[in-house]
Amino acid sequence: MAYSEKVMDHFANPRNVGEIENADGIGEVGNSKCGDIMKMYIKVEDDVITDVKFKTFGCGAAIATSSMATEMIKGKSIGDALKLTNKAVMEALDGLPPVKVHCSVLAEQAIKAAISDYYTKKGIDPEPFVGKVPECDECGCH
Ligand code: FES
Repeated sequence: MAYSEKVMDHFANPRNVGEIENADGIGEVGNSKCGDIMKMYIKVEDDVITDVKFKTFGCGAAIATSSMATEMIKGKSIGDALKLTNKAVMEALDGLPPVKVHCSVLAEQAIKAAISDYYTKKGIDPEPFVGKVPECDECGCH
């Protein structure tokens, strides 16, 4: 299966790449299948994600899904961002080849990890909101 035009577009021109200085939450996750790494930065105001950026040591599908995922959560409430699934991101990209589905999980997990970090920094236990986010070093990718 070839990559969709949307995947190619987000891979060639990824949105929201970079870092946010003084980010309110930073999440880093690793993909246990391939060992690739994703870092996500969020800025939050009044429970709304006002800015989001990502950096990845990952493949083209990881770049495209993260690019799309960041576009989908920007301007959304934390509650809505937590509902974003890798499936919804893949649908928005008109699909991914089956062997690349695991790549899309990185973006979803990194968003959850960043939100989790945001709650932790505020002194709130994130688990009731975010659930368990696997720690990067638990995945055995490095
Ligand atoms: Fe690692 Fe795609 S092969 S994220």
